[in-house]
Amino acid sequence: MNEVDLEDLFRQALAAADRAYAPYSHFRVGAALLGDDGEVYTGCNVENRSFGLAICAERTAVVKAVSLGQRSFRALAIATPDSQAPVGPCGACRQVLSEFMPSDAPVCFGGGQAIQVRTTMGELLPHDSLHDLAKNL
Ligand code: THU
Repeated sequence: MNEVDLEDLFRQALAAADRAYAPYSHFRVGAALLGDDGEVYTGCNVENRSFGLAICAERTAVVKAVSLGQRSFRALAIATPDSQAPVGPCGACRQVLSEFMPSDAPVCFGGGQAIQVRTTMGELLPHDSLHDLAKNL
């Protein structure tokens, strides 16, 4: 996959959302990260009865991939089938994702409607310390 197929990545995020463990919020989220190795790493949200321990789909995908040895990603898709409107990643996930994605990496997210937001990692987390510091080295 040289040209990033965001539609295919989004379909994989949607399939991952089906595996969400979300008995408390009933809000399923799926994420699909395209690694620089060409593999797709998916994740879903995993909640807990101690609510603060919920893990977002995006971080599940990052932790899965990094623990398998993949540390850089070229694209991300997020699916939230329980919302009509697209829902972007939370602030904590933006920070974690930016550790492993360049600022020009495409990101798309969408809910139950056809409308999807297409953006980049850098637009989701501008003036990121990691990337800004690297430019000045
Ligand atoms: N959630 C995610 O998995 N990703 C996001 O970007 C937003 C929120 C999850 C956390 C929780 O399980 C549920 O959605 C409701 O907030």
